[in-house]
Amino acid sequence: MKQKNAKDKIGEKRGVVGEQAVAEVQEEEVIQVYEMMPLHRPMNDDMERIADMKDEFSQTIDPILRMYNAALCATTARLEIIEDEFQYRKLRCPIHHIDTRLKSAKSILGKLEKKDLDLTLGAACNNIYDIAGIRVVCSYMKDVYLIRDRIMAQDDIYIMEIKDYIQEPKKNGYRSLHMIIRVPVYFMNKKQMVPVELQIRTLAMDLWASLEHDIKYKSLYQGTTMDFSSELKECSRLIYEAEEKMEVMNAMLEP
Ligand code: GTP
Ligand code: MG
Repeated sequence: MKQKNAKDKIGEKRGVVGEQAVAEVQEEEVIQVYEMMPLHRPMNDDMERIADMKDEFSQTIDPILRMYNAALCATTARLEIIEDEFQYRKLRCPIHHIDTRLKSAKSILGKLEKKDLDLTLGAACNNIYDIAGIRVVCSYMKDVYLIRDRIMAQDDIYIMEIKDYIQEPKKNGYRSLHMIIRVPVYFMNKKQMVPVELQIRTLAMDLWASLEHDIKYKSLYQGTTMDFSSELKECSRLIYEAEEKMEVMNAMLEP
């Protein structure tokens, strides 16, 4: 059977969240997609069938993407409230900038295929947790953890997963703090706990990640045999060293 049961998947998540998780996801938080379907739509949500009919497909996924967009807005609003607080207190803002992105229908389909899941909206909503993605870029590492703590302190947000690639960088040198959270959204008169992926990182980490992404994709499309992995890892190390020196200077000014 291809489809992983959404509840099993959440059960698996419980096992992997580790110490940093503060809340468990309840069964009723599995997103019920049928309730959001326009009434005239067929009850069959098999994406494989509807993907061929592009117009029908985009209409079918439309309410789902709107719900995720609402989750992006709700989460961004909370981050902007933090920014406003620091502005009001005349303190340096821990957030340098925020980027948001909603995954396209095409890339949701691609990810379902990659994960070998059924091509249904239910499988997408309950197994893909980065349909709504927010990148919070901070100046200093301590700001990254301040934002993490402020999010964790909000008691109506469920923390599903935290991956700290700053404490434990990926093998290739990637550093960032990732959180999967569920944010309450009132959509079509029903409360849904919508997953949002937060990537919290410093400007320096963001620089490395965007250039690494660019280099990786350029070399992939150009079919080059050049391997930059050790150079990229070295760049990550140098960036980290520079960043640490800057942090020390900042710590003297902002004890
Ligand atoms: P999925 O969530 O299934 O995609 O996989 P995962 O949970 O193993 O991914 P992870 O949380 O490690 O990373 C999710 C996102 O972080 C990616 O979609 C990228 O945006 C970013 N990311 C992760 N690793 C790298 C990396 O090595 N380089 C760059 N540039 N970005 C990365
Ligand atoms: Mg992920």
